[in-house]
Amino acid sequence: MTVQTANLTGLDLRAEIDRLRKERNAVILAHYYQKPEIQDLADFVGDSLELSRKAAATDADVIAFCGVKFMADTAKILSPQKIVVLPDLDAGCSLEDSCPPEKFKAFREAHPDHIALTYINCSTEVKALSDIIVTSSSAETILNQIPRDQKIIFGPDRHLGGYLSRKFDRPMLLWPGVCIVHEAFSETELLKLKAQHPGAPVAAHPECPPAIIDHADMVGSTSAILDFAKTFEGDTLIVATEPHIIHQMERALPNKTFIGAPGADGNCNCNICPYMALNTLEKLYLALRDLQPRIEIEEGLRLAAKKSLDRMLEMASATVGKGDLGAR
Ligand code: 13P
Ligand code: SF4
Repeated sequence: MTVQTANLTGLDLRAEIDRLRKERNAVILAHYYQKPEIQDLADFVGDSLELSRKAAATDADVIAFCGVKFMADTAKILSPQKIVVLPDLDAGCSLEDSCPPEKFKAFREAHPDHIALTYINCSTEVKALSDIIVTSSSAETILNQIPRDQKIIFGPDRHLGGYLSRKFDRPMLLWPGVCIVHEAFSETELLKLKAQHPGAPVAAHPECPPAIIDHADMVGSTSAILDFAKTFEGDTLIVATEPHIIHQMERALPNKTFIGAPGADGNCNCNICPYMALNTLEKLYLALRDLQPRIEIEEGLRLAAKKSLDRMLEMASATVGKGDLGAR
């Protein structure tokens, strides 16, 4: 989406965003992968599950969602009476793109004895075709409540599905999607980095491929990785997820060193999520000013998708919640 920024020259964007947030009775929700300047002015920064819970519970009139489209869609599914704006509607996700609804429907129909346990990183249509949604912080809690003899399709992230399958010794039919960001970490470069920082633990998101997970001391959602960063005993932590989360670590622990795991070229720029990076302060200002781009979902589709999301929210609350994937 092209945004005209010329007429914004000279505007104090932070002050204007603050003014509009109050005027509109808006809440600004941001994912940990957003740029630091967006994280810093958000009302709440969190992982996918925490942001869904906030969206469902807010009494604001407007939700300005600084994340990607499936997250803003989730907010609208759970809070249909609110105006939900996403600063850039092109902020998609490679996992969502990997799973076209018609193909997913055909796959489900070919396996009628399987339930579909589906990662929240998917379209509203795929949520409507699923039985239970999971996030990386709720997947383990939810999987533990499904009888062992129940056959499961897990999509669209084959790495998260494969990780759960190996950890719990539960075969699952895996949809072949990947996150382009986590897929780009290099095992060779990670081993070089570990050699340069002997003793530094590696914290990895379960969207990473097994070659990276195999070298991790801790595997978990963004919030679980952040909790680990706040409690590990050393001086240096290697972080194998989108590097903007390091902003929160450096704020909380300014005397420790956090290093983003490298991509194949030896630096971590290829691990910045290009979709998350589309949101800017300028676009957030315009979204609050114009209440556009706005998320709209047809009511029948919304209600169908809400069933699998409601099951997630119920089942995720059955035990602890965040940080479940923490121990390997
Ligand atoms: P979590 O924040 O739920 O761990 O998800 C990470 C992610 O991929 C968001 O796109
Ligand atoms: Fe999608 Fe990966 Fe970006 Fe998350 S980091 S939004 S999974 S492409």
